[in-house]
Amino acid sequence: MKIFLDTANLEEIKTACEWGVVDGVTTNPTLLAREIERTGKKPKDILVEICEMVKGPVSAEVTALDAEGIYKEGKELASLSPYIAIKVPMTVEGLKATRKLREEGIMTNMTLVFSLNQAVLAAKVGSNFVSPFIGRLDDIGHRGMDLIRDIMQVYENYGFGTEVIVASVRHPEHVYQAALYGADIVTMPFRVFEKLVQHKLTDVGIERFLSDWERVKDKIK
Ligand code: E4P
Repeated sequence: MKIFLDTANLEEIKTACEWGVVDGVTTNPTLLAREIERTGKKPKDILVEICEMVKGPVSAEVTALDAEGIYKEGKELASLSPYIAIKVPMTVEGLKATRKLREEGIMTNMTLVFSLNQAVLAAKVGSNFVSPFIGRLDDIGHRGMDLIRDIMQVYENYGFGTEVIVASVRHPEHVYQAALYGADIVTMPFRVFEKLVQHKLTDVGIERFLSDWERVKDKIK
């Protein structure tokens, strides 16, 4: 399972990359706006910096809504780095633009996906990635993870090559379930990422090993 960070925060990305387990990053206009406000940097510069740190797929979302506009914006963003994947909203116009971008070999990620049928359409236009938003489904009383289970099953039924990015992740339990369902990728905020390594028993275990070792340290000199 690949681990992506769902942030545009350069500090968080730098810290997480040092762990050696980050395969990619997803951004969206909200996350990018937050980083522009925090640093005063230009969006394109932020994206290039992220690509240089991550050296894996970095999703950059278009803001145009018509197919021609999405295509043009996508081409421009893709010229920033070969690591850029164009994040396109799941609409009719988005499908048309994704097909066109893919024909030109540009990486795409169809986003704001909330149903199995939408995920099938993303695969049909040859998108590299599809992003079902499970947390937002949970928020309205649906079972977000059921959608991941179903998409994984249907993609397997038909041998679709689109990789499933579990998105809108709220807590480590989402990551656990995504792994059980065989999701290709989970993208998560830094606050969830840093919780993955934590376990009380690991801390207690280290403490006990060190105190036991302390008792004999002088005897082995
Ligand atoms: C995914 O690509 C999106 O950027 C993200 O996961 C949305 O998450 P949210 O529902 O927490 O805003």
